[in-house]
Amino acid sequence: MNIDLPLTLLGGLSPATFMKRHWQKKPLVIRQAIPGFFAPLERAELFDLAAQDDVQSRLVIQTPEVAATPWRLKQGPFARKALPALKKPGWTLLVQSVDLYDARVRALRDQFRFVPDARLDDVMVSYASDGGGVGPHFDSYDVFLLQAHGQRRWRIGRQKKLDLQPGMPLKILANFEPEQEFVLNPGDMLYLPPRYAHDGVALGECMTYSIGFRAPGAGELAQELLQRLADQAREEVGDALYRDPGQIAQTHAARIPADLAQFAQVALDKALHDPLAVQRALGEYLTEPKAQVWFEGAPPDARASPGVRLDRRTTMLYDDAHVFINGESFLASGRDASLMRLLADEQALTAAQLARLSAPARGLVADWVQAGWLNS
Ligand code: SIN
Ligand code: CO
Repeated sequence: MNIDLPLTLLGGLSPATFMKRHWQKKPLVIRQAIPGFFAPLERAELFDLAAQDDVQSRLVIQTPEVAATPWRLKQGPFARKALPALKKPGWTLLVQSVDLYDARVRALRDQFRFVPDARLDDVMVSYASDGGGVGPHFDSYDVFLLQAHGQRRWRIGRQKKLDLQPGMPLKILANFEPEQEFVLNPGDMLYLPPRYAHDGVALGECMTYSIGFRAPGAGELAQELLQRLADQAREEVGDALYRDPGQIAQTHAARIPADLAQFAQVALDKALHDPLAVQRALGEYLTEPKAQVWFEGAPPDARASPGVRLDRRTTMLYDDAHVFINGESFLASGRDASLMRLLADEQALTAAQLARLSAPARGLVADWVQAGWLNS
């Protein structure tokens, strides 16, 4: 992708300018980001997805007549008859990770690859009956809200006070202070940075696609990476025993010896000293398939020929030393690394490119085809 070329998707801004001016900074309303956009997924198809038990879905029902609980939240799956009638106003069905299940939605997601893949979370598709919405709230995500069908009225505000109403089943702002309001039509899109207050209400039935980008938390990353490093620590550090032939007799027996504390610190430093181990843990974590993902293996005679393409459920990333695919890491260098990076960036390799891989790398690609991670 040429990041300096103006994109209709970004209202005529280039990805470079969009990232500089808006990303994580301020909202952008884009009229006809996708001109003549027609929702690829029909309402009935979305309802079918919400009925599957491996698909994460939620139903939000407004019950303003019940003052104590004006919002109800139910977790899917939902049989069609478990959903409220279409004529009933004020409900919303939210279906997560639709990009994993539908190639057209996945292709839409790929239009946003001027943002690193490592930041992408999923495409959530919502269906709302007239007046439906999830209330004024904020997300921790960067999000592109693409109007896919019907109209939605958005109100947004950059308030700093983000207290939530207590006792609600979903995040509802206690004091919403909208500053701008606009109605989005099919093909219009709103970008919001994290923690920007917003409220979208359906004007008639509507569908909205949220292309969401997760920002991992420092604590979450530290915990995840340390857990992975801990699994390898025994092997990395070895089982040398603490020795204290110089230990002198103690009058305060309960005090932890300073040498023992030092021994522990050195063991920990050893476990963490290899920067590649941290990079490896990060790449493996970032490419770990979501819980609901599974791959159907390819037929035994499947070959990586004439070329290969990443399965839409596969995540492939790389750093200076490794390539990562679906939670696994491989050291790569030279021409193999260049070609594997090409596979990750372009999501495909041609037969001619495959032929340039070393025999072991071609073997890996064949394994990935067998596992269903790549399609030939
Ligand atoms: C929706 O699609 O109903 C909600 C999207 C959002 O406000 O984040
Ligand atoms: Co939101």
